[in-house]
Amino acid sequence: MCGIVGYIGNQDAKEILLKGLDKLEYRGYDSAGIAVINGGQVHIFKEKGRIADLRAIVDTDLATNTGIGHTRWATHGVPSKLNAHPHQSTSGRFTLVHNGVIENYDLLKREYLQEVSFKSETDTEVIVQLIELFVNDGLSTDEAFRKTLKLLKGSYAIALLDTESGETIYVAKNKSPLLVGLGDGFNVVASDAMAMLQVTNQYVELMDKEIVIVTKDEVTIENLDGEVISRAPYTAELDASDIEKGTYPYYMLKEIDEQPLVLRRIIQTYQDHQGKLVIDDEIIDAVKAADRLYIIAAGTSYHAGLLGKQFIESMAKVPVEVHIASEFGYNMPLLSERPLFIFISQSGETADSRSVLVRVKEMGYKTLTITNVPGSTLSREADFTLLLHAGPEIAVASTKAYTAQMAVLAILGQVAAKKSGLDSDFDLVHELGIVANAMEVLCDSKEEFEKIAREYLLTTRNAFFIGRGIDYYVGQEGALKLKEISYIQAEGFAGGELKHGTIALIEEGTPIIALATQEHVNLSIRGNVKEVVARGANPCIISRKGLDMKEDRFVIPEVHELLTPLISVVPLQLLAYYAALQRGCDVDKPRNLAKSVTVE
Ligand code: F6R
Repeated sequence: MCGIVGYIGNQDAKEILLKGLDKLEYRGYDSAGIAVINGGQVHIFKEKGRIADLRAIVDTDLATNTGIGHTRWATHGVPSKLNAHPHQSTSGRFTLVHNGVIENYDLLKREYLQEVSFKSETDTEVIVQLIELFVNDGLSTDEAFRKTLKLLKGSYAIALLDTESGETIYVAKNKSPLLVGLGDGFNVVASDAMAMLQVTNQYVELMDKEIVIVTKDEVTIENLDGEVISRAPYTAELDASDIEKGTYPYYMLKEIDEQPLVLRRIIQTYQDHQGKLVIDDEIIDAVKAADRLYIIAAGTSYHAGLLGKQFIESMAKVPVEVHIASEFGYNMPLLSERPLFIFISQSGETADSRSVLVRVKEMGYKTLTITNVPGSTLSREADFTLLLHAGPEIAVASTKAYTAQMAVLAILGQVAAKKSGLDSDFDLVHELGIVANAMEVLCDSKEEFEKIAREYLLTTRNAFFIGRGIDYYVGQEGALKLKEISYIQAEGFAGGELKHGTIALIEEGTPIIALATQEHVNLSIRGNVKEVVARGANPCIISRKGLDMKEDRFVIPEVHELLTPLISVVPLQLLAYYAALQRGCDVDKPRNLAKSVTVE
């Protein structure tokens, strides 16, 4: 949610900021802006819409070496030019960009800023006005910044400019991600290392409630009490090609195609020299010590969790509960005596999951994060981390992270089973290798999915995905993919549940995508298909080799039955992709969404 960049050095700040924002657009894309300093004056350019719209209004002749920028996902106030960041104090001396939510902004307005006339509907403007208020009361800029931060409740990543010290960017963070990048004769600020990979791969991680004074030659990190903190930089191990689309029209298609490669990378990374699957002993000990695992996640990661439960329970024989993060905090079930909490999150930044993490840590429970982003908030704050190694996922719709999450959960299940002396009936390394090959076959069948999408989804208002057992969970993910990028109302249903109400929605031609990949429910799901066909539905059965029948529309290759979700989702991802494309939607940046959901 929202992306921040900053640059201070000798080069053209505008271009670096705009390029950086392009890379952060996945974090929010309803409006954007930059503020640059030229001759002691701040120039602000902001626009509703995408970075391309902003680029079109930036004065290209303006010489500037210092600036900050922002791409927004609206929380307080509609997407508009007025609410777009940067925001300025009344006198124009202070300008800032902010990612996060200030929960007590209204209270602060009433308590400190009654005289101020606000220009926007944002919570952010309160921050910049408070800084000016405290400077007018006689504090220096960093004292005023510090005092303001101490008053804020909520989450923030902030970059601040002061026209009276134009050679400095003031930075702070709490809960929202922010990094400082180091260069020779310049320094940068970014929500994500990807944004500034164009100029540096050396970054310093920032911790909550730290302030950073950034000049072109120096970066000084302090805590809120002004004590200086030293921290070594790290090298961002990102390949520039990982964050480019290359010849692909959309990141989503590239990321779908990367799935076999990611799976092979996971198999390799989690193997020792003898080819045995390994996971840190302390993680496996925590799983063994637990009497129940609680998987907490949101959206697609939650769907991966539903399948993780099947893998872990069938291999390691430990009971698993899967919960939606945003619900768990308000409706905590009766916990077992020795729970272990597993947080699944591609970004590692999802606020709903983090709030549960904070809560269960306070209760004294052990926590494990499964994430794609090393050093992310959920990774830093949990006791243990398992990485997905999927490479940056940029399309808003998650694809390769979902299959990577399932693979890592399967590996966790098997390693825990082996350590508990349970006999496993299959060689997971070998079976995952077969899965990777099958994924490739499916990725090579794009033309077929393009046709199926045109046939079933081009003009429909709604669609149903049905399945039984693990097919039902994959169907839920298929429905989420379809609705979020093509805006077709889609639901994933348990095949047997339709007749208990939802079948009333079936009309002549309603598309029903039915998954039939599980032997023990093959006949019953086909029975459910007959029920909807009798009511006029247009069925598209996707079955697995060995279970296929003549009416099936597509047959996926045979892999170990338990692992079929890793491949049966690929057709659904491709159907969603082509449906969105054919209906003229922006595949990578669907409306109202953002990649990293850092607000609760
Ligand atoms: C859907 C999607 C979202 C995320 C959800 C959780 O395609 O990407 O549903 O899965 O917002 O995000 P993470 O996994 O980053 O916690």
